[in-house]
Amino acid sequence: MPPNARVAVVTGVSRGIGRSICQQLATGRTGPLVLYAASRAGKLPDLGHAPTSPAVEVIPVSLTITEQGSVDAFVARIRAEQGGCDVLINNAGVYHYTEHASKDQRQEMYDTNFHGTVRVCQGMIPLMRKGGRIVNLSSQSGQLLYMAPHLRKLFLEPNATLDQIGELLSTYERHVVAGQAVRRGWPSMAYFPSKAALNAATRIFARDNPDLLINCCCPGWVDTELGGQAGRPPKTPEQGAMIPLHLAFGDINNISGRYWANDSVADVGTGKVQLF
Ligand SMILES: NC(=O)c1ccc[n+]([C@@H]2O[C@H](COP(=O)([O-])OP(=O)(O)OC[C@H]3O[C@@H](n4cnc5c(N)ncnc54)[C@H](OP(=O)(O)O)[C@@H]3O)[C@@H](O)[C@H]2O)c1
Repeated sequence: MPPNARVAVVTGVSRGIGRSICQQLATGRTGPLVLYAASRAGKLPDLGHAPTSPAVEVIPVSLTITEQGSVDAFVARIRAEQGGCDVLINNAGVYHYTEHASKDQRQEMYDTNFHGTVRVCQGMIPLMRKGGRIVNLSSQSGQLLYMAPHLRKLFLEPNATLDQIGELLSTYERHVVAGQAVRRGWPSMAYFPSKAALNAATRIFARDNPDLLINCCCPGWVDTELGGQAGRPPKTPEQGAMIPLHLAFGDINNISGRYWANDSVADVGTGKVQLF
């Protein structure tokens, strides 16, 4: 291990923003690091032409966040090899860009964006060292401005539990199946509540773990497989990595439990705290 190295984990590194986060960390710009590059395939993606710094050890590791056994094995490996972790970037996510998503597509978004990310946090938080950071890749689509006021209140309930937030997604699904979601104040696309639930989980984890800095963010509209479904995204993956990297390694004034973004999804910058 490089001397004084921090331990960092990034999920969903096979492509897109996750791959770019790894590329940038591999150059050593954030200091000595042992970087666990997690993907379903367990293979290291092509990290491009930038040289990997001798101060960074990049370790490919297999992780499917929607499978409890995979997360358990992953956490056990980090515990055995490192005994702790300093930075966790939960980047893995799924978007089906359609108002007519099938039941399976909707379920995949709930299972990945909310339940899967929560599962990784629950496994990793006991390993996180004091002052450690968790960054959850969310979206402006998860902002509560897309929901009716009575629903906003439920997502923002200060004493909410993760189970209660998960139950809100089940309620959404029931309303979709009944053809009543929009009439009842929900957004039409399941991606939106899946990310709103992730934002609420971020707030809950931060509330319950005051020794850690736990935030979520929108990376902007980024030219990846996921982002390209909705048109021609204005930002490169490298630009999309800027806010997550800032929340994971930059000076954020000890802020925790907040949602960060730039003012517009096209803006390039390290983001600022925005309304949930
Ligand atoms: N691109 C945008 O404009 C945009 C905007 C707002 C928010 N975001 C968020 O940013 C994050 C990254 O998005 P992206 O644009 O880089 O997407 P992407 O190119 O589609 O990459 C998504 C990554 O997530 C992984 N993944 C999906 N399901 C998984 C699972 N069950 N277990 C483990 N890994 C899984 C994929 O792995 P496989 O290769 O194995 O499928 C892939 O590596 C997502 O959370 C997304 O919601 C993106």
